Amino acid sequence: MKFTDLGKLGKINASSLALGCMRISGKDKKEVETIIGTALDCGINFFDHADIYGGGKSEEIFGAAFSAPRDSVYIQSKCGIRPGFFDFSKEHIIASAEASLKRLGTDYLDVLLLHRPDTLMEPEEVAEAFTTLEKSGKVRFFGVSNQNPYQMALLQKYLPQKIVANQLQFGLAHTGMIDCGLTVNMKHENGINRDGSVLEYCRLNDITIQAWSPVMYGFFEGIFIGSDKYPELNKELERIGEIKGVSPSAVAIAWILRHPANIQAIIGTTTPSRIKDYATACDITLTREEWYSLYRAAGNILP
Ligand SMILES: NC(=O)c1ccc[n+]([C@@H]2O[C@H](COP(=O)([O-])OP(=O)(O)OC[C@H]3O[C@@H](n4cnc5c(N)ncnc54)[C@H](OP(=O)(O)O)[C@@H]3O)[C@@H](O)[C@H]2O)c1
Repeated sequence: MKFTDLGKLGKINASSLALGCMRISGKDKKEVETIIGTALDCGINFFDHADIYGGGKSEEIFGAAFSAPRDSVYIQSKCGIRPGFFDFSKEHIIASAEASLKRLGTDYLDVLLLHRPDTLMEPEEVAEAFTTLEKSGKVRFFGVSNQNPYQMALLQKYLPQKIVANQLQFGLAHTGMIDCGLTVNMKHENGINRDGSVLEYCRLNDITIQAWSPVMYGFFEGIFIGSDKYPELNKELERIGEIKGVSPSAVAIAWILRHPANIQAIIGTTTPSRIKDYATACDITLTREEWYSLYRAAGNILP
């Protein structure tokens, strides 16, 4: 396993592979025990949740199945998405975090993220909510998800706590935050800066990027591994996998981990054998040539 110092605070030595728990809500307790046990055996010490996953069932079944010492892992959850709207009000943030704690059966969250930007956000209110949760010992660290640099800067201006993480969609079939940096000022689709240079902002400010849906394309449209929508990419994943002695899937995750931003990959598989397979991504390091070759095989240009 590889590790990353979340937010570069020297407080959270998080495994570079985190287990995303969005899809475990339909599993039974025994299955989730096996999923968690496999992740722990592979060296994964970081689990990602949200209040809304499975309508709360993901946190609930995780809480029932988790039996390792609490301080041997980091548990992160998110709040702020409600049916039909976003809600960063003080009341909602506190109530949501407390409900997550109850479902997870724990006294504290290591990290709480704001799930999706709420344009009606009052940053002073968020600061009050975070400080209340921090002072009561219910949440140790705070971060965001799907936010651009100015949104983070605005929030950070009011927060006494440092934003430690930003969770963003990223993987070989979703590379916007890299594309725009490679094609600056070009009249090409890849040159469109949709995120305000979030990758560079996070690196400048020591905010750890967490890559969600690392093997998906589109917005949950499907996975690119083995998909006939990505023939070149799959050929290249296989070629490099053979050289490195790992599966094409592991190469896809190694591609994320190779970036010097020390991105954490939030894998969402619920299949124990796949968790083990993805963990082998940490045993290899892609060369520059391999990294760029995969990037091009995914359909991207280099100027
Ligand atoms: N912040 C946000 O807005 C946001 C949004 C979405 C997700 N997330 C977080 O990110 C985590 C990961 O998201 P995700 O689940 O979409 O990620 P993912 O790892 O890209 O996709 C997981 C899905 O792909 C399948 N899969 C994975 N590898 C496969 C392979 N090699 N062959 C066949 N099927 C494969 C899994 O099936 P099996 O389970 O059957 O293996 C599962 O259905 C979530 O759990 C959540 O914690 C955050």
